[in-house]
Amino acid sequence: MKVPDITKPFELILFGAAGDLAHRKLIPALYNLHIDGRLNSEGRIWAVIRPEKKELAYLEQTRKCLLHYGAKMTEAQWSEFSERIHFAGIDLDKKDGYGQLAKNLNRADANCIFYCAVHSKLYPVLCEQLYAHGLISEKSSIVLEKPIGNDLSSALAINERVSEFFSEKQIYRIDHYLGKETVQNLLALRFANSIFEHQWNQRYIDHIQITISETVGVEQRANFYEEAGAMRDMLQNHLLQLLCMTAMEPPATMEAEAVRDEKVKVLQSLKPILGADIQENVVRGQYEQGTSEGEMVARYKDEPRVNPESTTDTFVSLKAEIDNWRWSGVPFYLRTGKRLANRACEIVVQFKEVPHSIFEMQHKKTMANKIVFRLQPDEGVRLQLCEKRVGNHLQVRPMTLALQEVGNNKKRVPEAYERLLADAINLNPTLFLRKDELMTAWAWVDPILQQWQNSEQTPDAYNAGSWGPAASTLLLAKDGRLWEENG
Ligand code: BG6
Repeated sequence: MKVPDITKPFELILFGAAGDLAHRKLIPALYNLHIDGRLNSEGRIWAVIRPEKKELAYLEQTRKCLLHYGAKMTEAQWSEFSERIHFAGIDLDKKDGYGQLAKNLNRADANCIFYCAVHSKLYPVLCEQLYAHGLISEKSSIVLEKPIGNDLSSALAINERVSEFFSEKQIYRIDHYLGKETVQNLLALRFANSIFEHQWNQRYIDHIQITISETVGVEQRANFYEEAGAMRDMLQNHLLQLLCMTAMEPPATMEAEAVRDEKVKVLQSLKPILGADIQENVVRGQYEQGTSEGEMVARYKDEPRVNPESTTDTFVSLKAEIDNWRWSGVPFYLRTGKRLANRACEIVVQFKEVPHSIFEMQHKKTMANKIVFRLQPDEGVRLQLCEKRVGNHLQVRPMTLALQEVGNNKKRVPEAYERLLADAINLNPTLFLRKDELMTAWAWVDPILQQWQNSEQTPDAYNAGSWGPAASTLLLAKDGRLWEENG
């Protein structure tokens, strides 16, 4: 789906402009929007950096990061883009520098978007300061990066404080997985075709697998990750959002409230995993030394700034169930981890076998139909069907129909953040989370996090470069199933 143009003037104030997320995702997305001509010529980007940081050094670092992450750039393009970047020297801890920002943001015609790419514990104080300096008006909105909070109660506290300064309509809780091209296509395939709807339920679907696997380790983010772990960093948000998009009922319209209502219903129908079921249905792992992409890599505990006794989860897989008419009895297996065998993100919808097969099978593997939504890399959708093998025997074999191979398109696939930044600046909240959605997701993972915290048990070890702990394979094997090979 096309990334929209930003037609109105705007002020985008980027808190955390010198951080990893800004350099890796946000600035490249803004740069792409700029060179694609989507940004209004009067759109300004305010990089909030520490007062002692040199502006020229920041710009040079930004230019190098853009090139490092593959941006195509001529001198003229960089010079035009860098003219959009202005600076606000703010010390978030000392609360200095907001006054100057208030003087600079003096255009009545522009929407003002405060983008918070900093630790969520800073959101309340940031809002207080914006308010104290008269920076919040009807034309302002605030974008909050995930994870918001550390558990249900901290998430509630942060959201309540932010809500004292911004109305719910002005709050954009971002989950960048919702901006990925294939997630949009999942909606299109589900709700623009009549042939899938009849099959999209417990009568025809055996189970669903959602995997987000990464080959990278914790990188330089131990300060954040040691507190978060895979459950808070990936499962509570990205994986549950993908589950919602796969399982939700058709919304009445594509309007924000209609879509969000349906997603909340899915989250509310998730069967709680409590007590002994946690041990049975949830696997937590931490990577050991191993080989990743041909290189020997260190175990998690030996990564820079990681506590050598750390019990942080770098892997989690679990079996979720949705208690409603459509999905009762259909397991949703979710899995994510760092230092896994491949980088991939896929939603696999596995249909049931035919009730009785009259054909000779070529091999023992399941021949049941499946649809695979591949979010990355090589975005696309594949449908597995069966066909007759050429020859005298009436033998069938699986064949794959590529419904959409975005990766093969000549066109560049826009990064998720391009679409979401454009939507946030244009004040379109459809792909952002509402407060009740976020809280319901936290409420579901909270008991699991609590049990982990109170338990003496440590995460299961897995070798870097593998598919996670043996217990994760067992989780499906117990149900007579296998994880999809996400090659
Ligand atoms: C982020 C997590 O939200 O998503 C990171 O904080 C993770 O740990 C990243 O690496 C993965 O995003 P993507 O789009 O590269 O799959």
